This record gives sequence, structure tokens and C-alpha cells, in this order.
Amino acid sequence: MKPVYLDYAATTPMAEEARIAMQEVERDFIGNPSSVHAFGQEARAAIRKARMEIADLIDADPEDIFFTSGGTESDNAIIKGVFFDRKSRSLPCHIVTSRVEHSAVLEACAFCESLGAEVTQVPVDSEGIVQKEAFAQSLRADTALASIMLANNEVGTIEPIRELSALCRERNIPFHTDAVQAVGHIPVSVRELGVDALSFSGHKLYGPKGIGVLYIRKGVNVSPLLTGGGQERGMRSGTENVPAIVGLGAAARLSRQSMQQEIEHLTDLQEYLKASIASIEGSFLNGARTKLPGNFNFGVHGISAEELLMRLDLEGFAVSAGSACNAGAVEPSHVLLAMGRTPEEARASVRVSLGRFTTKDEILAFAAKLCDIVREIRQ
Ligand SMILES: Cc1ncc(COP(=O)(O)O)c(C=O)c1O
Repeated sequence: MKPVYLDYAATTPMAEEARIAMQEVERDFIGNPSSVHAFGQEARAAIRKARMEIADLIDADPEDIFFTSGGTESDNAIIKGVFFDRKSRSLPCHIVTSRVEHSAVLEACAFCESLGAEVTQVPVDSEGIVQKEAFAQSLRADTALASIMLANNEVGTIEPIRELSALCRERNIPFHTDAVQAVGHIPVSVRELGVDALSFSGHKLYGPKGIGVLYIRKGVNVSPLLTGGGQERGMRSGTENVPAIVGLGAAARLSRQSMQQEIEHLTDLQEYLKASIASIEGSFLNGARTKLPGNFNFGVHGISAEELLMRLDLEGFAVSAGSACNAGAVEPSHVLLAMGRTPEEARASVRVSLGRFTTKDEILAFAAKLCDIVREIRQ
């Protein structure tokens, strides 16, 4: 059997349509989109088309879409951008976030804290859901931004963004959501969610790596991190990565078309996986009932995730422990600890993430191999 990729939450293989679109741009559109001549106009038109496709995917106004280099940059740009704006106006800056955010959010908040901001990390319950009362209580007169992820990268928990953003709207506090794991996989509408800013990344939805999006609703005060030529309406200077933007546009279009079918396919596979894992003695599941269809996090008491991961890898199955960016680290996951798992349980937890190209046969083979490996380790 060919090696089986079950790490879609870390990154997705690029869709053929996105790859072809990028190659065409690389070959045919040589102009700088800022140039006034025909070559420039052609490249600019390609960006405009992609921006519209991407805006459609999240139900946003194309004018509110800013291209970045990925999820990490988008998260940094909004959090630091709000902080620098407040600082430039000598205003205090309090940021509310949660304990289960990706390090791109947590580290950006820590950076602002080191420069004088105050940060509150709201706790989550045992399913990883942000506690609404604690969130409401954390909001203050000087809160400049709340940033809560839409879906968790380690356990797939979907946060109640609409309810949380409503609490912020009542108080005139801008609300950002890191939707890197959600966009392209579940329906996302910035209008329905009531968010003022949203981040996502091309390589998580079958688009290219190194391209991302920051949606910012008009009227939110944000200082740009990168200044220079004034591209992206002054929000993100630097010559645009035209092939990647076009590739992301193609991936976005495809995601919109195939989303419903994919959700059904993944839900089906996940149910099977769940039943197989439940049959392993001492196994436990991490995450909520309301979760991403492709994200599956579990552990087996007394068996380290590292060992499981290595043995599965030798057998040709790629899964991960903790978040991708921290993979290889022996530190227990901050997400699982925040959910109340013990360090031992956290170290025993593995993330299996399925995607567009995962087949039932692959899941059957994975489940069988997992049972064999657990038995061998126990013996
Ligand atoms: C929730 C979340 N936010 C941010 C990121 C960072 O995105 P990128 O890899 O595009 O920088 C990731 C990537 O794993 C993620 O899962």
C-alpha cells in the first residue's frame, strides 16, 4: 500500500486546479501588478479575480481582503496592528484571547504584552470550548481586541464565535477569529459570524504554501506591519505573490464547490475511525461534539504518542502529535492541558486528520494497523 497521509490539519496537498492555475500565471503573467503598462494590468486583473473568489468563500467584501504570507502573518498583523495603532494614539491596550489558540496568536499577544499591552487568556472546558461567562467577564473598557479561533488545530473543536462576537459588538470591541483550520472545510461567513477580522491560510485548503488572507472589516483601526510601496491598500506593502494568490483563488473556488460532499465523506470516515478506536482498551477521545469533520484526536492510556507516531510512520501512516509546528517536541500540548488532560494523557494523544483524498480503504488499513501496534507495545 502507498504511504497514507493522515495529517491534513498540518497541510493539505495542493489541488491540481490550483497547481495548473499557478503554472499558467508563472509562465504568462510576468508583469508587476503595480506597473501601469499592459503586463502590470494583466497581473492586477488576475489578483482582482482571485480576491473576488476568496471573498465569496467567506462571504466578505473583496475590498476587505488583504493577502499575506499565511496564517501566522495574518494573526500577527491583526494583533500587533491593533496594538501599534493604540500605542500610536497613546491608548491602553488590553487583548482577550483563549488558552487554546495557535502559537501564532499566543506569541503575537505575548509580544504585545512585552511592550506594555495586557493580555487575558480565557479558559476552556473539557471539550476545548471557550467559557462564555469567563469571556464576557474578561472584556473591559480598554479591551482593544478579542481573538478567538474558529476551529482548533489540535482537537478540531469549533468555538461559539457568533455568541462571543455578539458580546464584543455590544461593547464596541473588534473581534478577530483565526479561521485557518475552518475556511474551505466548513461554511464560514464573516457576516453570520459577526467578526471584524479573520485569518486563513492557503496551504490548509488545498492551495499553495506561503499565501494567506487577513480579512479586516472597514472601520477597524489597524497599523500595517509592513510599510513600503503601499500594496494591498497600504495594509501590506511588498510586490504581491501573484501565482500564489491565483492558486489560492482556484483552491477557494474548488472548496466552495466540493465542501458539502467533503463534509459528508469525512463525517462517514470519522464515524468508522471513532468506532475502531473505541474498541481499543484504554483509549480516550479529545475534543468536542461540535468539531471539524476531518480532525480526530485520541489517546491510549499508557502508550506514548511519540512511540505510536514512529511505529505508524514505519508502517507508512503519517499522523501527528500536538500541533504541527510543535511536532517533535516532547512538551505536552497546551491545548490538551487547558482542556484538563493530565500531562501523561496529553503525551499519549495523537491527531489523525483526514481530507479530500482520504479513502475508506486507507482508514480501514489505519485502524487495523493501530490495533496491531497497540497490542505489540502492550506485549
Ligand atoms: C489555527 C492555526 N493558526 C495559524 C496557523 C499558521 O498558519 P501558517 O502555517 O499558514 O502560517 C496554523 C497552522 O498550523 C493553524 O492551524
